[in-house]
Amino acid sequence: MENKQQESLLQQNKPGELMLSVKNLTKVFEGKEQSVTALENVNLEVRRSEFVMIVGPSGCGKTTLINIIGGLEKATSGEVLLEGSPVSGPGADRGMVFQGYSLFPWLTVRKNVEFGLKMKGMPASERSGKAQEYLELVGLAGFENMLPRQLSGGMKQRVAIARTLCNEPEVLLMDEPFGALDAQTRVVMQELLADISRRTRTTILFITHDIDEAVLLGNRIYVMSRRPGTIRDVLRVSLPGERNHNSLVLPEFLEIKKSIMDMLWAESNDAAMDR
Ligand SMILES: Nc1ncnc2c1ncn2[C@@H]1O[C@H](COP(=O)(O)OP(=O)(O)O)[C@@H](O)[C@H]1O
Ligand SMILES: [Mg+2]
Repeated sequence: MENKQQESLLQQNKPGELMLSVKNLTKVFEGKEQSVTALENVNLEVRRSEFVMIVGPSGCGKTTLINIIGGLEKATSGEVLLEGSPVSGPGADRGMVFQGYSLFPWLTVRKNVEFGLKMKGMPASERSGKAQEYLELVGLAGFENMLPRQLSGGMKQRVAIARTLCNEPEVLLMDEPFGALDAQTRVVMQELLADISRRTRTTILFITHDIDEAVLLGNRIYVMSRRPGTIRDVLRVSLPGERNHNSLVLPEFLEIKKSIMDMLWAESNDAAMDR
């Protein structure tokens, strides 16, 4: 029933080229004492240039899902297809950005961004041009020679985004990338990412537990249930104008936010009843 509903919702969307699809994905972590079903029969699709959000409560399996899509973890059953081909391990076609910045502390901003290009064997002059392009895109022009420890959290995350984008992945996978930032910086970074998405048309799959973040950024939002994580619903978001902090108080924004809150509240009530 739920999957039927999802399919019909998807068909209403503009049929762009299918980039990523997750089919009947289940993940069970086998332990000595007991096993944990983290994901159960998850289905989702991301089309080219779409900005897709997955929102769900802590522990519902979001990180497990994105790690399987990224090829860092194996599914128990089901599959992940990128442009129709099954994913079996990590690859440059999927760029990942996590909450931790994972920058090399001994390398300058520029060298951090150039690192992947250097590994690919791109000549120095070409790679510095490319790095510069992406540093400008994330608003870091002028900070090229600084070291990560000299940067704020938001700036470190800008470096991480530039470094991932300059490898020109087919899909950008983001796991709560702004979760460690203060509220104000978080909104600044959300505006930056909305702007990058608009300008570069990068396909983005972004995972969060933050409903505001999901509605502010997404073209579509998959809402997950608590563990074992399943897809409860998928919503299309259309807001007037560019996405920025002003969007947070639009009636259209609040209406979608309310319906997701209701869904997640129903979830936590069910959880309370179980206890
Ligand atoms: N390597 C692992 N071994 C066993 N259980 C795990 C492992 N990784 C995650 N889990 C469990 O799977 C569930 C989902 O975790 P996770 O994907 O991190 O959720 P989220 O990112 O939504 O907070 C949790 O109950 C977690 O404890
Ligand atoms: Mg997580």
